[in-house]
Amino acid sequence: MHQVYLAGRDNSFAAGAEETVLEAGLRQHLALPFGCKSGGCGSCRVRLLQGEAQHRLPPPALSQAEIDAGYILMCLAEARSDLVIDLHQPARLERLQVRQLPVRAQARTALSHDVIGLTLKLPKGETFDYAPGQYLDFLLEDGKRRSFSIANAPNGETLELHLRIAPGGRFAHWVRDEMPERAILRIEGPLGAFYIREDSDKPMLLMAGGSGFAPIKAMLEDQFARGLKRSTQLFWGVRSREDLYLDALARQWEKEQPLFRYTPVLSEPDADWQGERGLVHEALLRAYPKLGGHEIYMSGPPVMVRSGKDAFAAAGLDPDHLFYDSFDYAFETWPAKN
Ligand code: FES
Repeated sequence: MHQVYLAGRDNSFAAGAEETVLEAGLRQHLALPFGCKSGGCGSCRVRLLQGEAQHRLPPPALSQAEIDAGYILMCLAEARSDLVIDLHQPARLERLQVRQLPVRAQARTALSHDVIGLTLKLPKGETFDYAPGQYLDFLLEDGKRRSFSIANAPNGETLELHLRIAPGGRFAHWVRDEMPERAILRIEGPLGAFYIREDSDKPMLLMAGGSGFAPIKAMLEDQFARGLKRSTQLFWGVRSREDLYLDALARQWEKEQPLFRYTPVLSEPDADWQGERGLVHEALLRAYPKLGGHEIYMSGPPVMVRSGKDAFAAAGLDPDHLFYDSFDYAFETWPAKN
C-alpha cells in the first residue's frame, strides 16, 4: 500500500499495488476528476509532483509534452511509491458530487442538418450542480452510456445538449427519430475536468471543433453572466458554413462583449467565404504564433485535440494552461457501464 497526497489539501488516500490511483481515490470517496476511465479523454490528468507511478499502458490522452511536464492519467496509473499529486482543481469542484438522476426530455430542435438540440428538465426539487464545460452520461438500458457536454450555464431547471447525428451514432438517431415525447432518461454527472480555471488571468483562446462548441457555449454564457474579465477569442472550426449551427449567437456575443472575439474557420468553404479557412488549430496559430502567455481550452474530436496539443506545445504553450475535452461523436466505442 502507498499513500497518495493531494498537494495543497489536508487529505490523502491509500492506493494498493493492483489498483489505479483513480480507483483507489474513488473507493475512498475522494472527489477526483474523471470521465471515460480508460485513458481516452484526459479528464483525470493530474501532475505528479513527487513519487513514482506507472501507467498500465501508454497513456493515449497524453502528449509527449504533457508526459515531459510530469502529467499522469489517474485512471491508468498505479502508485509505485507514496505520491504527491496536484489536482489543479478549485475547492468548489470538490463539492460537486457525481450522481445519477432521472430527467425528462423537454424539447428537441434541429440546430443544423446534422446537429439537434435536446433540452432536459431536471426533477422538481432536485439540484444538479456542475461547472460550465463539464459533461454528463446517459445510462442506457443495455448497460451502455453515452456522453454529451452540457451546453448551457447552470440555471437550476434545464440542461441543454447538442447531439451530432453521426453515422453509427445510434443514440442521437434514436433521440431524433424514435424517442417518445417527454421521455424519462437517466443521467449521471457532472463528469470531466473541462472548465475555466478562475485562478488565471492569462488571455483565453477557446477552440471548438463541430459540436465541441457545446461546452464552450456553457463556459462563455457563465463568463458573460458574471462579467468577462479576460480577453477571450473563440475559434470555431467546422467543414462548411451551414455547420456553424449557432453562428448568429457567437456573432451577437462579439457585438455585446468588448473582451470577446469570434473567428469561424471553415475547412471546406464555398467560393465567397471571406473568413478563415483550413484546420482550426492552424487558424489559431496564424493569429497567435507564440502561445507562451495564453491559456487554451479546446473541445472537439480526438484528432483535433491531438493536433492542437502538439502544435500548441511547439508554439510555446505551457501544458499547465492547456485544458481539453476530447470526444468521439458517436461514442460507440466507450466501454459499457460497469
Ligand atoms: S478518465 Fe482517465 S483518461 Fe478519461
